[in-house]
Amino acid sequence: MGSLYLSLVLSLMLLAPLRPSAAYLRLNQGSHLSPENPSDVLISPGGTFSAGFYPLGLNAYAFAVWFSKPTCWPGHNCTLVWMANRDHPVNGRRSKLLLKETGNVVLTDAAQFNVWATDTAAKSKLTTYLQLAESGNLFLRDSEGTILWQSFDSPTDTLLPQQPLSRFTLLISSRAKGNYSSGFYKFFFDDDNVLRLLFDGHETSSFYWPHPWLVSWEAGRSTFNSSRHAMIDSLGNFSSSDDLIFWSSDYGRSRIQRRLTLGYDGNLRLYSRGERNETWVVSWQAMSQPCMIHGVCGENSLCSYAPNTGRTCSCLQGYNQKKSTDWSYGCEPEFDKNGKDFTFIPLPNAEFYGDDLNYLPNKTFKECETECLQSVNCKGFQYKFRDSVGFYDCFPKALLRNGHQTPNFNGDIYIKLPKSYNISDTKKKHFHEILDCPKSNTFLLERSYAKRQENGTVKFMLWFVSVLGGVEIISILLVWLLLYRASQDKNVAKEGYVLVATGFKRFTFDELKKATRNFHEEIGRGGGGTVYKGMLSDGRVIAVKRLNDSNQGEAEFLAEVNTIGKLNHMNLIEMWGFCAEKKHRLLVYEYMEHGSLADVLSSSSSELDWQKKYNIALGTARGLAYLHDECLEWVLHCDVKPQNILLDTAYNPKVSDFGLSKLLDRGKLYDSSFSRIRGTRGYMAPEWVFNQPITSKVDVYSYGVVVLEMVTGKSPLKGIQLVDGVEREVEMEYRPRRWVKESEKELNSMESWRGEIVDPMLEGNYEKQKMENLVGVALECVKEDRDARPTMSQVVERLLHS
Ligand SMILES: *[C@@H]1O[C@H](CO)[C@@H](O)[C@H](O)[C@H]1NC(C)=O
Ligand SMILES: *[C@@H]1O[C@H](CO)[C@@H](O)[C@H](O)[C@H]1NC(C)=O
Ligand SMILES: *[C@@H]1O[C@H](CO)[C@@H](O)[C@H](O)[C@H]1NC(C)=O
Ligand SMILES: *[C@@H]1O[C@H](CO)[C@@H](O)[C@H](O)[C@H]1NC(C)=O
Ligand SMILES: *[C@@H]1O[C@H](CO)[C@@H](O)[C@H](O)[C@H]1NC(C)=O
Ligand SMILES: *[C@@H]1O[C@H](CO)[C@@H](O)[C@H](O)[C@H]1NC(C)=O
Ligand SMILES: *[C@@H]1O[C@H](CO)[C@@H](O)[C@H](O)[C@H]1NC(C)=O
Repeated sequence: MGSLYLSLVLSLMLLAPLRPSAAYLRLNQGSHLSPENPSDVLISPGGTFSAGFYPLGLNAYAFAVWFSKPTCWPGHNCTLVWMANRDHPVNGRRSKLLLKETGNVVLTDAAQFNVWATDTAAKSKLTTYLQLAESGNLFLRDSEGTILWQSFDSPTDTLLPQQPLSRFTLLISSRAKGNYSSGFYKFFFDDDNVLRLLFDGHETSSFYWPHPWLVSWEAGRSTFNSSRHAMIDSLGNFSSSDDLIFWSSDYGRSRIQRRLTLGYDGNLRLYSRGERNETWVVSWQAMSQPCMIHGVCGENSLCSYAPNTGRTCSCLQGYNQKKSTDWSYGCEPEFDKNGKDFTFIPLPNAEFYGDDLNYLPNKTFKECETECLQSVNCKGFQYKFRDSVGFYDCFPKALLRNGHQTPNFNGDIYIKLPKSYNISDTKKKHFHEILDCPKSNTFLLERSYAKRQENGTVKFMLWFVSVLGGVEIISILLVWLLLYRASQDKNVAKEGYVLVATGFKRFTFDELKKATRNFHEEIGRGGGGTVYKGMLSDGRVIAVKRLNDSNQGEAEFLAEVNTIGKLNHMNLIEMWGFCAEKKHRLLVYEYMEHGSLADVLSSSSSELDWQKKYNIALGTARGLAYLHDECLEWVLHCDVKPQNILLDTAYNPKVSDFGLSKLLDRGKLYDSSFSRIRGTRGYMAPEWVFNQPITSKVDVYSYGVVVLEMVTGKSPLKGIQLVDGVEREVEMEYRPRRWVKESEKELNSMESWRGEIVDPMLEGNYEKQKMENLVGVALECVKEDRDARPTMSQVVERLLHS
């Protein structure tokens, strides 16, 4: 009878997941948490964080802390901030986290192995308890109030506000998307007291941030303060004892969740999320060019970055991938290394960082080639022009690592291959693989456990429970089937409301017609469509862009919209949804309170003070830098102008209308198939007119014009002329070079600075040095020669360090 009762209890426990959950605020001495009971969760007083067993895959759990506000589904879409056992997941059965009477917290796997412990001991007569603070810190405290252990002292890949990084702690990235094991990237204070990012791979390790060729002070870091302390505050300001200071682009806003995470891709990013917003946005990042991160592709391979695919690796000619599933092992030669006659294959605009056999300045190509031929160890050489001295440098390479190709790099690589090697053969084997989006793989815990001794009663109980469990599973399956059928029917009924993969909404045309009161209130025009103000049924104010009739097919439109919808940045306008029905193509955006920069600049009231203007310049640069180099895609804007820079309530700029022109990949850029002139008179780069290849530098140019316009207060399209004896603003004959030259001349003569040139509305209230810096950058951006213009991420750097 007893055993029957027990088995009933056991079978009820199987039903536990169906019961509503009640989480704990603290774990007392002698109690434990178990993965078998999903309600065994510690929550922080305000509910922002939860700690508990987090499913990593089928039957594999980690004890973790995650953001639980807004509500998320563990194992599905929660953001983890800390893990006790990232490298040793535990079984879903009979594992537990136990706070022992001695004051030690122990995590056991299947009641057999201890995989993790705090190794703490309570003083005699004192009791201890485990609690989760509202800051996300999990701590063990005794009854005297002493903290015996806290998770903030052993971060994994994430730093939360108020969590210090010290000389004892470091961040280690996770291994891959969806794989939380320790990965190859580390963020910590180096021996010289400087915070760095390190790639620590199978065979080598190398620093890649700050740029390894800069000495610390060039990178703005100090080596003198050995206290080694860094922290991010709740307003979004990160400051470190090595003088590294940065702040999030939404600095100062409170009630925002923030985290600094070292991603599996090796980039360090600061993320923000409003309490009710569901997606994290990047508000700062260390590297703007993903392929500059070391160790992306392993030896003898090349990293490249393209839209829709993210980073890809490919083997160099003459090399084959070593391990077909893992690029970190790189490629191995498929030719005979001991051959005699060698030749070189050029690889333009490519860089392989490190592993130089030698550094030979001022060499001719022939000399460099000979140098590499003479050395058995030479695998190829880097031949690079140095602007500052006007000659070529030669770097024979012992190994070809950290390879990437970027149009901005002013040098080529020559790969050494035997003459006998048939190059046309290898071309076929040149393959690509998507790196950043590995297929989601289900993960089974592989570990052998000792079999338990089973006696008759237990056998009977297990048998009984299995039968009960079977019945239960069958009924659950039935219910689920019914629910599934019902939801299927609903889906069919509600076609047109399908969510696309990224989660933003597909609206029906009727819905948007209603929201905009039949396209009643027009708020803008241009960029291939008209923009209307509207309000959704949930009260959100929206801007709806109705695209002019296009012949674009639905599939193509969906693909583009999906891409644009994935771009998340503080300084890019957020897209909430779209509509594609018959010939109608509409885009739904958040509505911006203060309209566009153009509106504000043309209004006579002095809405913008110097600080606001500087922030607009910086924010716009950040948004564009994000579009160009990083994130998921590589997008050129092609129509940067004040009309496309929108301002929110706090005058933070948000770039709009991006991605509409065309999504480009690098291959296409070089094809220059981009022949139709885009952009707006006055802001258009000379490349458009002279039919030169279109690169991201066209946006840099337009950006420069916008900044000059903001600073001088003069539009490139308008001028003052005497008309009938009265000074009037008129449309000027279009002379972009003259406009730029004039601005330049005036701005360069320092004397006039305090005079009329700088927008009189600023009334001299500007910081002189910042102003000089901004103007200097803007003038470089409008250089006629596109190679002389900085990249958007360089602009951001320079504006930040003024
Ligand atoms: C997680 O997904 C669920 C269901 O799709 C959704 O309701 C919830 O808002 C999501 N939470 C987060 C934080 O994304
Ligand atoms: C994560 O990566 C490690 C190292 O490659 C591997 O051993 C482990 O099985 C992976 N885990 C998952 C969940 O795929
Ligand atoms: C961030 O903190 C540092 C050091 O405390 C300070 O110098 C800097 O001005 C702060 N930045 C902002 C935007 O408040
Ligand atoms: C070193 O850095 C710490 C933390 O940022 C700071 O409090 C301290 O004043 C610095 N010491 C010196 C000598 O600058
Ligand atoms: C959250 O969403 C609101 C409106 O949807 C937006 O104004 C705000 O900037 C967002 N916050 C963050 C941090 O993205
Ligand atoms: C570079 O080498 C050439 C030929 O050896 C020499 O004439 C020239 O002066 C060198 N340039 C510099 C800057 O050293
Ligand atoms: C190289 O390979 C191509 C195609 O396989 C073949 O047609 C050609 O004859 C080969 N050349 C040499 C020199 O072996």
